[in-house]
Amino acid sequence: MNVHDPAAELRANVAVPFERAQAMPVSVYTSESFQALEQEHVFATSWLCAGRVDALKEPGDYLTMEISGEPILVLRDREGVLRAMSNVCRHRMSTLLEGRGRVRVITCPYHAWTYALDGSLRGAPAMDMNQSFCKEANSLPAIRCVDWNGWIMVTLNPDLPEPQEQLAEVDDLVGYLGMADYVETFREEHRWNTNWKILAENFMESYHLPMCHGGTIGGAVNLRQMTCPEGKAHFNYHHILKDDSIALSIAHKDNTTLQGEDRLRTWLMAIYPSLLITLTPGYFWYLCLTPDGPGHVKILYGGGLHPDFAADPDAETHFSALKGLLDHVNDEDRGCTERVWRGMQGRLARPGALSHLERPNYEFARWIANRIPDV
Ligand code: FES
Ligand SMILES: [Fe+2]
Repeated sequence: MNVHDPAAELRANVAVPFERAQAMPVSVYTSESFQALEQEHVFATSWLCAGRVDALKEPGDYLTMEISGEPILVLRDREGVLRAMSNVCRHRMSTLLEGRGRVRVITCPYHAWTYALDGSLRGAPAMDMNQSFCKEANSLPAIRCVDWNGWIMVTLNPDLPEPQEQLAEVDDLVGYLGMADYVETFREEHRWNTNWKILAENFMESYHLPMCHGGTIGGAVNLRQMTCPEGKAHFNYHHILKDDSIALSIAHKDNTTLQGEDRLRTWLMAIYPSLLITLTPGYFWYLCLTPDGPGHVKILYGGGLHPDFAADPDAETHFSALKGLLDHVNDEDRGCTERVWRGMQGRLARPGALSHLERPNYEFARWIANRIPDV
């Protein structure tokens, strides 16, 4: 095996059964060339999440993102339909919108070509003398975009089955919680000094909870109460029974539809490649990851409450308690994942054996390995 070929190292890594599994090789995290392969074969070909549909409530509300270097805008059009399209002007290719906001039309900041919210070109100053110019032929290219359980999912891949189909097993597992109805109360963007997979893997195992989160939620979990099943084709998951030390993580006291352990069960789902969802009977939070070179990751971080908590008279108190808790949890995760990135830079860094509580990490490694072509 060529030790400079991260894809080959990864294939060898995932060729062993789970009972002998090791963490992924260092090169898979640190190599620029491997990240280029991920951009092409993972991010450009998968469904990716742009956030919650709550974020785009009114006509003209938009957000921008990049998929594998492709500038994209997602908006709600005049008819209330969610659309994604290229965020690149059809004139001399400036990007159009930045960040988030609300617009009536999309106006290019360079020469003021303007586009309607359906992407069609509406106006282009002083273009009447060029005989080749045709307004109708200059719409912004559409990109696939759907609402899946309240999540905005987009893809550059024209051939992928719909998320409803790919992720039908998510509904089988957590459909009873009604994920589409959870109310998003915050969303933020961050950039951490770690590889995107280190953060994804951190999210998909709860082995680190008692130690890394000793200052927050660590005490509410018990390693013996974690269940880590085999992964599914397009996601992995595990679940934990929490005690009642954090009231928001269990069913609302007035809730009568959730019964027994369902009142206490927290689900952690990693929708490949980069949508990470924690879903509890009281709240949810999520990360959407975008790699930014091997050593950085851009993060869309958001969360909110189950409708029972969002509707009760103490909703404001719940919102702020939740935000305070999650920010603290996230700070702890930042410390842990940035330390892993730093540790990996050492010459003596070697991946070690995985716990049975890291089954999702093994599944994730296999999923990535299957996407990277054998050259
Ligand atoms: S680049 Fe957009 S109007 Fe010229
Ligand atoms: Fe964590």
